[in-house]
Amino acid sequence: MRPKNNLTVTLAQGAVDVLLTASPEEKVAATFALADVWRAGIGVGRAAAPDDPARPPRPALLPPSEMPRRSMGPKGRIAFIHALAHIELNAVDLAWDIIARFAHLDLPLAYYNDWVGVAVEEAEHYAALANRLADFGAAYGDLPAHNGLWDAARSTADSLPARLAIIPMTLEARGLDTTPAAIERCRAAADADTAAVLQQIYDDEIKHLRVGVQWFEYCCSRDGANPQARYAVLLAERFRGGLKPPFNLPARTRAGMDESYLKPWLS
Ligand SMILES: [Fe+2]
Ligand SMILES: [Fe+2]
Repeated sequence: MRPKNNLTVTLAQGAVDVLLTASPEEKVAATFALADVWRAGIGVGRAAAPDDPARPPRPALLPPSEMPRRSMGPKGRIAFIHALAHIELNAVDLAWDIIARFAHLDLPLAYYNDWVGVAVEEAEHYAALANRLADFGAAYGDLPAHNGLWDAARSTADSLPARLAIIPMTLEARGLDTTPAAIERCRAAADADTAAVLQQIYDDEIKHLRVGVQWFEYCCSRDGANPQARYAVLLAERFRGGLKPPFNLPARTRAGMDESYLKPWLS
């Protein structure tokens, strides 16, 4: 993000600018540019995060229940990669949103460094998946997508611990449970390139979950709350249906979210 009119942009305002960028390619480029400006040394500042990020005219956003069922074979693979690209584009916005929306909370500098790092990796994930779609003669926007991730963002816009509990610690963590099988399916279909992209995403998402858990536990220690008990309460309040095993406990444990968080759903 280039400073406008030679004024130094703040991180929070830059984050809002990225959120309000509709084109995925421009959103990715703006993410890398803002990360560079942040690392060169600008302040956090304050800015009003929009309720919803700007989105391109396509894909059409459908309710999850109206999404077409995915078939097997090459078409199914394109639909799978398209769905992941949509998740990663949302993840770029979620990282900038958690920076801008909670910038008034007087959080340590490490909080911003962590989430800027997450934003950059999410942009890399989106770009890698968009390239993979191009390899198959497809593009992001060709298929419908659903807005479930942003619905979860809206329902946790009032509370940083709730946001952390639901987005990284529940939805991103769910990705860790399901990605190893997806990597295996790609390998079994002799699609080593998609498998390599998914492996990179998987490795990075363990780091993202760790970032989420660390800041959740920071909030809990600041508020004098027990993290595991608070997680269970927030899930009951804000996540219909609860968690569904089986869990990828080795990956979750590497990220700092061990069985102690999952006990209510393990029996
Ligand atoms: Fe990602
Ligand atoms: Fe992530």
